[in-house]
Amino acid sequence: MASITGRTVLIVGASSGIGAEVARRLGHGGNRLVVTARRAPELAALAEEVRAAGSACLDIAADALNPKAAADVVAAAVAEYGSVDVALLNAGQGPDMSMDEVTVADVSRIMALNYDVVVNYLIPLIAQMGDQPHGGLIAHTNSLAGLMGIPRQGPYSAAKAAARTLIDAARVELAPKGIRFTSIHPGFVATDRVNADSLPKPFQVSTERAARHVIRALEREPAQAYFPWATTALVRTLSVLPTAVSSAVLRSLASR
Ligand SMILES: NC(=O)c1ccc[n+]([C@@H]2O[C@H](COP(=O)([O-])OP(=O)(O)OC[C@H]3O[C@@H](n4cnc5c(N)ncnc54)[C@H](OP(=O)(O)O)[C@@H]3O)[C@@H](O)[C@H]2O)c1
Repeated sequence: MASITGRTVLIVGASSGIGAEVARRLGHGGNRLVVTARRAPELAALAEEVRAAGSACLDIAADALNPKAAADVVAAAVAEYGSVDVALLNAGQGPDMSMDEVTVADVSRIMALNYDVVVNYLIPLIAQMGDQPHGGLIAHTNSLAGLMGIPRQGPYSAAKAAARTLIDAARVELAPKGIRFTSIHPGFVATDRVNADSLPKPFQVSTERAARHVIRALEREPAQAYFPWATTALVRTLSVLPTAVSSAVLRSLASR
């Protein structure tokens, strides 16, 4: 198991929540971090913390929905540090959305926010890492909600499932080039955004604990990582139960 030290690490979606906490922790490892998201002041404050902890840090405000902006971030990381060893594609959002209330535009927006943002970084990163002698690791913060259709999170579940499938294909194709892929599937994490909605959140974990799990996945590089175990066990059990039973359980959980 390699710890994340002395490496160039790009974190997309680093201005708050899990991404910011991962950046803070990797800041203590003598790494070269590139942190990006849309909110420049939050990124600048984070970069200061990372530098104070002993790592170099480049902060770039950029919208991951814009393919050119994403490619420019990858190019800027390479221009500054020479390579991207690890990329954590963490931008995303899963708001409370019932299927009888959403519009077509809402569903498209959630797909863009959780799938297009991955694609926009995945393609330039594959091109870059394919040229690096040591390849690289591309990790994606997916969700346990990407493993099944979760009520009130249908568009989000669908977008995360699509991202997992795309990454699964890339992993098989690109192993000969030394590019590794890890999909990380958290359960509910107590970030500010998630705390602000009214979804029920069984077995929720702290942002700090989530960041520890994410960093362990970056170190061990499994194809898929899941946490916490209780929510993982719940999702696995629901996925093998008869549909009538799992639907009743999910409906009851969603109505709490
Ligand atoms: N919290 C949970 O319960 C939970 C559970 C499972 C999976 N996840 C996943 O974990 C990841 C992080 O979520 P979080 O809970 O830590 O939420 P968060 O605090 O809202 O973090 C989301 C990050 O993504 C960035 N982002 C959003 N849209 C972006 C865009 N268009 N371009 C660039 N950056 C963008 C946000 O920054 P800006 O707004 O500054 O752009 C922010 O830094 C997400 O992919 C989420 O789906 C979260």
